Amino acid sequence: MKTLKNKLTAVVEEAFVAAGYDKSLGAVTFSDRPDLCQFQCNGALTGAKLHRKAPMMIANDVLARLADNEIFKSVTVAPPGFINIILSDEFIAEEAGKMVESERLSLPVMDEKTIVVDYGGPNVAKPLHVGHLRAAIIGETLKRLARFLGHNVIGDVHLGDWGLQMGLIISELEREQPSLCYFDESYTGEYPAESPVSIDDLSRLYPQASARSKEDEEFRARAMKATYDLQNGRAGYVALWKKFLEVSVADLKRSYARLGVDFDKWLGESDADPYVPGLLKTLEDKKLTYLSDGALIADVAEETDDEPMPPVIISKSDGSALYATTDLATIVQRMADFNPDEMWYVVDSRQSMHFKQVFRLAKKAELVRPETELFHVGFGTMNGKDGKPYKTREGGVMSLSVLIDSAKAAAKERIDASETAKELSDEERSAIAETVGIAAIKFGDLINHRSRDYIFDLDRFLATEGKTGPYLQYTVVRLSSLLAKAEAAGALPGKIIAPESDTERELLIKLFSVGDVLIRAFEDKTPNAICEVMFDVAGLFNRFYFENKILANENVAQRASWLRIVELVRRMLITLLDIFSTDVPERM
Ligand code: ARG
Repeated sequence: MKTLKNKLTAVVEEAFVAAGYDKSLGAVTFSDRPDLCQFQCNGALTGAKLHRKAPMMIANDVLARLADNEIFKSVTVAPPGFINIILSDEFIAEEAGKMVESERLSLPVMDEKTIVVDYGGPNVAKPLHVGHLRAAIIGETLKRLARFLGHNVIGDVHLGDWGLQMGLIISELEREQPSLCYFDESYTGEYPAESPVSIDDLSRLYPQASARSKEDEEFRARAMKATYDLQNGRAGYVALWKKFLEVSVADLKRSYARLGVDFDKWLGESDADPYVPGLLKTLEDKKLTYLSDGALIADVAEETDDEPMPPVIISKSDGSALYATTDLATIVQRMADFNPDEMWYVVDSRQSMHFKQVFRLAKKAELVRPETELFHVGFGTMNGKDGKPYKTREGGVMSLSVLIDSAKAAAKERIDASETAKELSDEERSAIAETVGIAAIKFGDLINHRSRDYIFDLDRFLATEGKTGPYLQYTVVRLSSLLAKAEAAGALPGKIIAPESDTERELLIKLFSVGDVLIRAFEDKTPNAICEVMFDVAGLFNRFYFENKILANENVAQRASWLRIVELVRRMLITLLDIFSTDVPERM
């Protein structure tokens, strides 16, 4: 399905060719001066060199071949050689009508690729904290966007379930309850079905163990040994670890579900472990690794590097697997399982060196096809108002569920104080507060380019004015109630007729641009571009709404057409909100 921009490009390309110029010059873009025109083509400017001709001459030649086309209201040339395009109102109405007819609102479908999106990255037994928030919401949006555009996408949570934190918790639990059967090496019976720890125990054990390991050398050594034993299959530890996993995953699923985040695969670092021996052999066969101070390392530096590129450490002298090794083995596993064209890693930008190293080694060792794209979708930090990484009042890292609860509580306060509240039960208000609070958090994050740091400011995020999630939800609620009111009055949407006001034209043209925005957001992996177009659409609609009496309009055809546009805007916003996995309450 071609976007309107692409259709117009085809028309203008044809005109360039007919006038004897190169086809590639015909690219049409949305105008950056909507006061002058709706679309523009700058090809005459770029073509001047190629054809050794003044841009104005080229532009006028092309113009002569476009002038009669009835899809245009006007095509004009402006110095030094811009071609400015305004569509005919009939054509705009026709295109809008096609959009209404189309189940997916004429939004494009791309050639299908298989893409693995690695996002989330929580660590088992450690609580999900705000650092994992960005990975979850940016990753979920990108996954849904890619899927919406027709790709085959696999979202994997990539649990941190195999590292030292597991040994730390095992050792800490052993200190507290040494008599548990899991610690008895001579135990041969079945291990109990019930977990010896709850999620609260885990959240307590980890910080305790982590603190202890910093001051107690001997404890740390024990935890490392426990990690090693676990990774080498000691039965009691494996059984215990499985319980940690169960308890932790159940808790993670709850928090993610609140955010509308949902993974296709709940694989973890441990699942890549069986691929480590094969990986080591490949690296060795390709002579990519060598020993240095007892550690196995691989060089990935290239001559053209302008920053130091340290070697990748594959395994330490004690043989324990490292972060990079696990990621490399995971690549082997993913190629075997899905043979993807692309792998995206939605992970904090501070890990960029790690991914550069891993990707280079993966290519060098031919773990992937030469054309497989490996992409680190890095993101910045969520800061508090002090400009430092977000903390609790007491100074600790805030857990995700506490953060969501605080957004919900703040949203609830606003709803309780509102006019609508009077007709709603407390339960209904609470449900609305959850939906609104979560949209506030998500859009507060996603409106920023992912690479930027931003400040967590609940008051601003919850406002129903400005570029916020609640503003978008509110706009949809208003659209829905307008349609319901119309229906109750017997006024139904009808055929879209030629627009007569600039706001209406601008609104429709904006709707036509959404497909191109989605493709750009997909290519750059920047959800904020979609946010911007949603706010543009919502803003234009609100302007249109204030400028026109829709329901009270006596011209029935006009009213029906406007109602259809209301419906179209509503469908578009809901479709886009769904890419953000964001619901709209029925009222707010
Ligand atoms: N568990 C890691 C952390 O908390 C993030 C994992 C990111 N994904 C990956 N494939 N390395 O920092």
